Amino acid sequence: MNLFDVYPINPINIVKGIGSLVYDDKGTEYLDLYGGHAVISIGHTHPHYVKRLEDQLHQIGFYSNSIEIPLQKQLAEKLGQVSGKEDYQLFLCNSGAEANENALKLASFYNGKKKVIAFKNAFHGRTSLAVAVTDNPKIVAPVNETENAIFLPWADEAALEQAFADNEISSVIIEGIQGVGGIQVAPILFLQKIRTLCDEHNAVFIADSVQCGYGRTGKFYSHDFAGIDADIYSMAKGMGNGFPVGAISISPKIKPWYGELGTTFGGNHLACAAALAVLETIEQDNLMANAAEVGEYLISELKKFDKVTEVRGRGLMIGIDLPAELSNVKKDLLFKHQIFTGEAKPNVVRLLPALNLTKAYADKFLQAFDTTLKNS
Ligand SMILES: Cc1ncc(COP(=O)(O)O)c(C=O)c1O
Repeated sequence: MNLFDVYPINPINIVKGIGSLVYDDKGTEYLDLYGGHAVISIGHTHPHYVKRLEDQLHQIGFYSNSIEIPLQKQLAEKLGQVSGKEDYQLFLCNSGAEANENALKLASFYNGKKKVIAFKNAFHGRTSLAVAVTDNPKIVAPVNETENAIFLPWADEAALEQAFADNEISSVIIEGIQGVGGIQVAPILFLQKIRTLCDEHNAVFIADSVQCGYGRTGKFYSHDFAGIDADIYSMAKGMGNGFPVGAISISPKIKPWYGELGTTFGGNHLACAAALAVLETIEQDNLMANAAEVGEYLISELKKFDKVTEVRGRGLMIGIDLPAELSNVKKDLLFKHQIFTGEAKPNVVRLLPALNLTKAYADKFLQAFDTTLKNS
């Protein structure tokens, strides 16, 4: 049996990881500034994470949502506290797409409306409605196409007001910083405008925090920079540091009813243990402050490179715009300097390292980046 061949892959077999370093099967060391798509939040094999998962596995790994799982309540409490949304409600699932799918569905249950506003270059996942509000027709199958998705230009307040005119909007979904879209930071005034219009029209503000959330920007949710509360925050990636877990954090104004949402695996014992270990580590090791500090340092240093067109981002979610002729940079960083980075179109190097990245590793990257640019 062959694998279904959908991923263009690098010929590297990573077999081990510690903190911000990973090692291949030949023992070559790599600096990981990508965290496997922004997933590794507290570093590979963090001792507290390993111990909590190991201990849990010796107790019980899984039982369904038909019984009491106190770990879920502990997680809700901790997440409420660390995210500063103590009166919100937690629904646990397994991935970012599933979190958004549930958020969009919940919004529609809440206000009985159908239309969803999304934005140019948005990425919200690959399941049916999540992909329908993702701005990439190539990955939208005919069965996923829907007239309920409305795409608006990024940060265009007039277009937003106009779209609300018919009062049919169920929800607005927006990443605080577009990730796949090339690290585009949502302007504060635009997020505030969404909040106002959603309030005026009984629409639900969904803050997709799957990539930009979980402390990566120095605040727990990157939408927090706008000083507003969204109605639903979706999250995944950094939440489990590699263990598949996703969630939505739901405003107290949205009331649940039995059967409204559900999942077999979501909120299982192991997933909760992983998510708790991540939050405990973020808190104990002060990782949001570190993300803000090391991120600010990286951004200010990167802005000094002449060949860089633009540097965007917040904290440890950084996009480096390069001119088209420097299309080799990401590959050179990987194969000549053993540094993993990400990419976005047209020629953006994406940095999404663990939140405990040290300044020394940031400097190592800056040096390699300098050499790569000089030789390009
Ligand atoms: C902003 C955003 N939302 C949703 C998703 C989908 O998450 P998943 O791949 O876990 O389904 C992603 C994944 O890249 C993402 O970046």
